[in-house]
Amino acid sequence: MFAAVTLLVLMCLTATTHADHHHQPCHSPNMTGMMSVMSLKGEVKALGAFTYDSTAKKLRFRSNESQPMNTSLGVDLLVFFDEGILYEIDSKNQSCEKKKLHCTLHPLDVPDDAKFYSTVHSGSPSIEGEGLKLNVWTGPFSDLKAYYSISVTMGCLPISMFYFSETTSFLISNMEIEMEIKDPDLLVVPNICQGLPVLETSEGTVNSFLHEFI
Ligand SMILES: *[C@@H]1O[C@H](CO)[C@@H](O)[C@H](O)[C@H]1NC(C)=O
Ligand SMILES: *[C@@H]1O[C@H](CO)[C@@H](O)[C@H](O)[C@H]1NC(C)=O
Ligand SMILES: *[C@@H]1O[C@H](CO)[C@@H](O)[C@H](O)[C@H]1NC(C)=O
Ligand SMILES: *[C@@H]1O[C@H](CO)[C@@H](O)[C@H](O)[C@H]1NC(C)=O
Repeated sequence: MFAAVTLLVLMCLTATTHADHHHQPCHSPNMTGMMSVMSLKGEVKALGAFTYDSTAKKLRFRSNESQPMNTSLGVDLLVFFDEGILYEIDSKNQSCEKKKLHCTLHPLDVPDDAKFYSTVHSGSPSIEGEGLKLNVWTGPFSDLKAYYSISVTMGCLPISMFYFSETTSFLISNMEIEMEIKDPDLLVVPNICQGLPVLETSEGTVNSFLHEFI
């Protein structure tokens, strides 16, 4: 079983793709914005604010259950990609879980091994203010039965990520992006998470940002 998990994680981290020489994956800037996760059944799984530090590779996402949407998941996640740590925070319960991150793919940045798919013009390319030019990147995720597709603007602002597999598919959309970290405190480990040991991962479990929604 351990071998199977290791293999899964390895495949997650080393997708084999051949980068087009003219299109190197870009990296997004520091950002604050809103993110929604919608299943293909039309259900909004989560909606909330994110903060992303592109230098320190840290992401906070808090979904807001009090929004006037019928969201099914309340999550508060703090991910340190370089350290390989994911915190699941429950502020209502004043509890926190510290987990080992198995896969660094997330909806706010293009992975280094992503494959360039195409440049598309959403809306109108010729009418001022009515179009958006996007680069689309793709790659396999976790195992060879799941894939992602991420669309970014020419300035590398992430617009959407589509995750699809035989069993689950969902669309993550980013809105109201500002190119700054408005509240740096959101990227600091909260008191309730401090000094915690890293939880043992149970067999077959993969911890990642996207796995929170699968
Ligand atoms: C992003 O924000 C962090 C923390 O404020 C800062 O150290 C870093 O230089 C910023 N990165 C960019 C590319 O502006
Ligand atoms: C959730 O939304 C409500 C109403 O829009 C707002 O007052 C609250 O601050 C939000 N909470 C978070 C964690 O974003
Ligand atoms: C909210 O979602 C639940 C479960 O998907 C459903 O049973 C319920 O009818 C929905 N409520 C509204 C107001 O859409
Ligand atoms: C609080 O934590 C307990 C145990 O971890 C869990 O069973 C319960 O569902 C949590 N309550 C809320 C409101 O999240």
